[in-house]
Amino acid sequence: MTEGHERPRFLDLEALERRARDALDPMAWAYFSGGAERERLLAENVAAWERFTLSPRVLVDVSAVSTSTTLLGAPVASPIVVGPTALHKLAHPEGEVATARGAAAAGAAFVLSSLATCDLEEVAAAAGPSVLHMQVYVLKDRGRTAEMVQRAAAAGYRALVFTVDVPVSGLRTREVEHGVRLPDHLALPNVADPDSARHGWGFVEHVVREFDPALTLDDIAWLGGLTGLPVVVKGLSRADDALRCADAGAAAVVVSNHGGRQLDDAPPSAEVLRKVADAVGDAMEVYVDGGIRRAADVLKALALGAHAVLLGRPVLWALATGGAEGVRELLDTFGGELERVMALCGATEIGAIDGSMAGRLGVHPGERP
Ligand SMILES: Cc1cc2nc3c(=O)[nH]c(=O)nc-3n(C[C@H](O)[C@H](O)[C@H](O)COP(=O)(O)O)c2cc1C
Repeated sequence: MTEGHERPRFLDLEALERRARDALDPMAWAYFSGGAERERLLAENVAAWERFTLSPRVLVDVSAVSTSTTLLGAPVASPIVVGPTALHKLAHPEGEVATARGAAAAGAAFVLSSLATCDLEEVAAAAGPSVLHMQVYVLKDRGRTAEMVQRAAAAGYRALVFTVDVPVSGLRTREVEHGVRLPDHLALPNVADPDSARHGWGFVEHVVREFDPALTLDDIAWLGGLTGLPVVVKGLSRADDALRCADAGAAAVVVSNHGGRQLDDAPPSAEVLRKVADAVGDAMEVYVDGGIRRAADVLKALALGAHAVLLGRPVLWALATGGAEGVRELLDTFGGELERVMALCGATEIGAIDGSMAGRLGVHPGERP
């Protein structure tokens, strides 16, 4: 938004989502917005945050509130991270380069998808010195995977985000119905653009056929060993899996169900976060995504033990409607709202958010169950 403009700024993601739906062609909308099967988890991911409450602490001097924090040691403006989503050129002609520019302008970290439509080097140039992570789908062709990871390390990406919840494609009903495919003018330059992505099957079905379905815990060390970059394991819901990842050398995990696009019967992220974070303790950082739509959701996630949160679809909506500037505005507005909710809860800094602040709706702290 231009300076001096008086419009009050607050997050209205429902309006943003409607504007994005109007701006996008039906195939792109089906790809971005859909979930798996009945789309139960797609809805539950959002609804589950509403089942938690925040217990405000009063009589704390909140005249200065800071959302700044670190991600694997690197400073970021807030714990709100732009998560990896594929095919940004379906949303905006500048694709991931615009997303990176918007995230950098807001001081936010950005995780670039393996299935990006821009060269990872171009994205790094657009992001400048701000924090970039590279999301990795490990392909059956390990040579091509290693090549991408080595390019990412050379370009300055600071961590590899190893996505583990796509051993096979979820049944994405909307994508099947709309025949989602990669348009001829787009490419996937970081995974050497498998020609197969263009023909026959739908996009996801086809690309996912190139993913290695035989991944195990050993692949955390394999991935880390390619470059020495820290490995963040993305896409788990169980405390025992998180502990196994920590033992296998992961630097962090993301509690995630892929935005409800894989196993429709998995639990919503909000419901499993505390168990995972409690089990992991200080062993590594725990991030979460899925249905984060309000600043209060971010504070709840941090109170339940997350170190940071990732946004998926809202960034695509902002990109589709406003390019880099839209992404910056979304993140700045989200960050501003987080500051307000922190002040209302008596937390002047991220480190002051603790487990006592999150409760269950209908169960008040100190009350007998
Ligand atoms: C259109 C779309 C594409 C996605 N592509 C990827 C991807 O390439 N790699 C990945 O790890 N996750 C991918 N995800 C999952 C997101 O990283 C994230 O887990 C999820 O979108 C978070 O939920 P939210 O959309 O409710 O915020 C994708 C999600 C969407 C909606």
